[in-house]
Amino acid sequence: MNYKQVIDTLYETTKIVPDDLRALLTSMDAEDEAYLYEKARDVRERIYGKDVYLRGLIEFSNYCKNNCYYCGIRADNHKADRYRLSHEDIVHCANQGYALGFRTVVLQSGEDLSYTDEDICDLVRAIKRQHPDVAITLSIGEKEKESYQKYFNAGAERYLLRQETSNPKHYGMLHPKELSIAHRKQCLSDLKEIGYQVGGGIMVGTPGQKVEHVMEDLYYMQDFGFHMIGIGPFIPHQDTPFRDEKAGTLLDTLHLIAIIRLMNPHVLLPATTALGTIDPRGREMGILAGANVVMPNLSPRGVRKKYMLYDGKICTGDEAAECHRCMERRMESIGYHVVVDRGDYKN
Ligand code: 5AD
Ligand code: FES
Repeated sequence: MNYKQVIDTLYETTKIVPDDLRALLTSMDAEDEAYLYEKARDVRERIYGKDVYLRGLIEFSNYCKNNCYYCGIRADNHKADRYRLSHEDIVHCANQGYALGFRTVVLQSGEDLSYTDEDICDLVRAIKRQHPDVAITLSIGEKEKESYQKYFNAGAERYLLRQETSNPKHYGMLHPKELSIAHRKQCLSDLKEIGYQVGGGIMVGTPGQKVEHVMEDLYYMQDFGFHMIGIGPFIPHQDTPFRDEKAGTLLDTLHLIAIIRLMNPHVLLPATTALGTIDPRGREMGILAGANVVMPNLSPRGVRKKYMLYDGKICTGDEAAECHRCMERRMESIGYHVVVDRGDYKN
């Protein structure tokens, strides 16, 4: 297999046939790997230059009705110390973020039914009223289409909902039977139809994940036409059924970031906190493999350790301002710059 040739074709056409994709996902030497990152960076810089977009993450509740086997805030984890932020707390976090230069906030929580649609709409409207130039992203799970429509009408423009894995069998290995990939994909289509910029994504190295599953995900994501694709390594959490499973690797994640960039040149692609957790310079390496977004934490310091999706999560002891400055420094250290910008998808 001539990997450089396959990478060149992918670079020029964004297309790759299954046999080539399987080969690309199976093995590669260090020289080809470096070539893959170089091409991914090239595509990214052609469209987004050296800009890195910031998303300020506000984790407003860790209550969740679901029981995903991988997740530290699953309902059956009775050791999780649960919290909910009030409307005022959340707006305060958004204001702080605005002052620091964030022009996107991501409101994320477990699937917490105690917030009504009206509560979510009130939140979105309150933040929008004070900061019309801020893009609001929601990441609050599976809802009815009518609910998604209400949030959109209130001013939310983006929605993150990773498919986690597109393969029904594999989905069933990661989730209890109440959850299905069919419903997840329905939600994603509903969001797209309403007009959201939609984000999907997967975890890398989840138990039972095979090359075939990753291929299915890569083609699904390209076909769907996501605006954002969030990927990070799976990391076990000690109080979940997956406590003894192996974590995904840095290399596999970087490799996939680069392939995703080449298959989806314009996509908004974060170097995630999970990537920063498995390696101290994971996020920098993610950017150098083709990512163009980072998502520093804006949650109040007092609750950060409680939003533990996986063990060892970084940035749980810092103030928003520290995280922001730290991220600026990290990006400058590799020749990139965080910008004060909504960071919309460029067509
Ligand atoms: N390891 C890595 N990522 C995780 N997520 C949830 N649990 C874990 C874990 N144990 C990711 C999921 C989810 C996102 C918010 O966090 O992909 O969509
Ligand atoms: Fe949070 Fe570095 S980004 S401490």
